[in-house]
Amino acid sequence: MLSYRHSFHAGNFADVVKHVVLVEMLDHLTKKDTAFEYIDTHAGSGLYNLHSEDAQKLEEHTNGIGRLSIEAFPELARYFEVVHSFNTPEVPPSMLINGLNIYPGSPAIAQFFLRPQDKGWLYELHPQDHELLVNNMRGLRSACKKIKVQCENGFDGLNALLPPRSRRGLVLVDPSYEIKSDYDLVIDRIASGYKKFNSGMYAIWYPVVDRHTIDAMEAKLLGSGLKNIQRFELGIAEDTNARGMTSSGMIIINPPWTLFEKMSKLLPKLAQQLSQDDKPHFKCDVLAPE
Ligand SMILES: C[S@@+](CC[C@H](N)C(=O)[O-])C[C@H]1O[C@@H](n2cnc3c(N)ncnc32)[C@H](O)[C@@H]1O
Repeated sequence: MLSYRHSFHAGNFADVVKHVVLVEMLDHLTKKDTAFEYIDTHAGSGLYNLHSEDAQKLEEHTNGIGRLSIEAFPELARYFEVVHSFNTPEVPPSMLINGLNIYPGSPAIAQFFLRPQDKGWLYELHPQDHELLVNNMRGLRSACKKIKVQCENGFDGLNALLPPRSRRGLVLVDPSYEIKSDYDLVIDRIASGYKKFNSGMYAIWYPVVDRHTIDAMEAKLLGSGLKNIQRFELGIAEDTNARGMTSSGMIIINPPWTLFEKMSKLLPKLAQQLSQDDKPHFKCDVLAPE
């Protein structure tokens, strides 16, 4: 039984980097009229109330989205536009956390971009989060009428969907890694997906709880022969052997050509702003060339 609930973590520093990259990729895909498919293998519940009991328990958003502003980060205008679009102006200021009441998850962010010609596939295995996701997505006014929410294993769903009929697509693989074999499984499934659809964009999120695990994951990915891979990682503290996530990142296969330059300017700034020890920790590199 899965115990991870993203509602405890929504809007934290890891979500910020993940969603900034996601916004950039979706924005890029919508620059052409040609249809694309968005596949979210680990969708979560879609929308998160920052005043919920879960969110208030750890208050992780206060060290993420809560420490950012459009004034300090004008380059994140599109990301802020998306995030704020899920917040209604009627909410009294006393209920707002840095101007927000709701933080959107990856399915809601994707829904913002999906057009009538596109398709979305959302997988969420936790029964309660699946039910919340269905309701949250139903409540959004979407231009795209082809968004499917499944209570199924996203790794298996991915295998069945590739290659997408449109031959354009973005796959987000964002597990909680509470099952340790997920570190290996992610690479296995991406590598086999890539064999069927090598022009697709893939985004893999990872947490740095134990650096050796991430080094092994990266080595396995590079050993699988995939090309055109970039990595964007943000840390809020130095690596540690103690329990807890100190950094997290996104590995992108076939990134939009604008992404690297954007992230190389943004990550040092974000690291400075969100660091808990006043030492910026970030990685911005090409893991495999085109
Ligand atoms: C990190 S959260 C997802 C957050 C979301 N992608 C976002 O950015 O807002 C991971 C989610 O994956 C779900 N999950 C875990 N294993 C799964 C699997 N094999 N298939 C589908 N969902 C799974 C968990 O219940 C959890 O809600």
